[in-house]
Amino acid sequence: MAAMGYPVLTMADSDFRLDPGLIYLNHAAVSPWPRRTAEAVKAFAEENASLGSRNYPHWMHTEQAVKQQLQRLINAASADEIALLKNTSEALSVVAWGLPWKAGDNVVITDQEFPSNRIVWESLAPIGVETRAAEITGTGNPEAAIIDRIDANTRLVSVSAVQYGTGLKLDLEKIGAACRNRNVLFCVDAIQSLGAMTFDTRACGADFVMADAHKWMLGPEGIALFYCRAEVMEQLSLKQYGWHMVEDFLDFDKHDWEIAGSARRFECGSPNMTGIHALHASLALLEETGMQNIEQRVLENSHFMIDFIQDHVDDLELITPAAGDRHAGIVTFRPRKEPAQSLFERLGNENVMCALRGGGVRFSPHYYTPREHLVTALELLES
Ligand SMILES: Cc1ncc(COP(=O)(O)O)c(C=O)c1O
Repeated sequence: MAAMGYPVLTMADSDFRLDPGLIYLNHAAVSPWPRRTAEAVKAFAEENASLGSRNYPHWMHTEQAVKQQLQRLINAASADEIALLKNTSEALSVVAWGLPWKAGDNVVITDQEFPSNRIVWESLAPIGVETRAAEITGTGNPEAAIIDRIDANTRLVSVSAVQYGTGLKLDLEKIGAACRNRNVLFCVDAIQSLGAMTFDTRACGADFVMADAHKWMLGPEGIALFYCRAEVMEQLSLKQYGWHMVEDFLDFDKHDWEIAGSARRFECGSPNMTGIHALHASLALLEETGMQNIEQRVLENSHFMIDFIQDHVDDLELITPAAGDRHAGIVTFRPRKEPAQSLFERLGNENVMCALRGGGVRFSPHYYTPREHLVTALELLES
């Protein structure tokens, strides 16, 4: 199997220190931290223990640096359009409960969304907002299915850039253009894309983009990007207030206040400084490696897995779309001769970390995953 015509890739040993016995194909769930991220957190802990917050101005500098890294990662116009929130769900909720809805409005999502990108919209039902799930499963043209659900009452379309279960990658530019033409807001849950694929917020015309750090961005849980396009920021009313979200936030003696002009308005209080230090290190690794290189490697991994599954059609059914522009780092498949659950358990017993999602077993290696690990995991599917 190693001689399938693909080069054997070697692990970037200096960047990761995964247990050598572990085959980690679960970056679409929670990723291991790069070595430098673990070191950054250790150093931050030591600093806190010995100096407390003496270097707080430097921590704030790191906070701003993370926003700039994220700005580059998504090609936003300005770091002022980026807030650091707790997670994807919180960012989605800021949008859902910030927009000025009226009864009869609707939101278009898809039938494959992770619960976060469905529940927040369904939570608006009591105020008369309808959530419409476009049926994209089984269609060759998911963008058309989504655009077809837009009508005169649609205020917003919210989709995952890459679906967590099937791994389907949507053409965001196409959906964004349709939204713009119809004066509909466009919201992208990018957690299954950022850090694996290049991403261009401006090209896809997104108004809102959100993603927690703990998947392909190789950061910790509990710190998330929330991008809000400057021109739509005023449309979101705020539900949380505090010292950190006002214009002169460091002037504690000032009693009159105004809401910050930047996306800091969405950050009500003290930032997650531990998460910020960790994410700073993880994003530095992504930048040094280069997102183009990472995307290429992620796609090579996916092609390798898809080729294997398609070569074993008697045993395995591919759930992820095979076309090169229709997937990113997730490859999901179903065993034909045993329940997915039992295959999943067998893989777990062999130290293969993966997930049961989208009606099958989901493999999600990252760019650094050694090819031998993929070969070992795939060979286990043969037995
Ligand atoms: C598409 C998608 N959105 C959101 C989440 C999780 O969101 P949060 O950052 O709120 O935990 C996941 C996690 O699996 C996901 O796959």
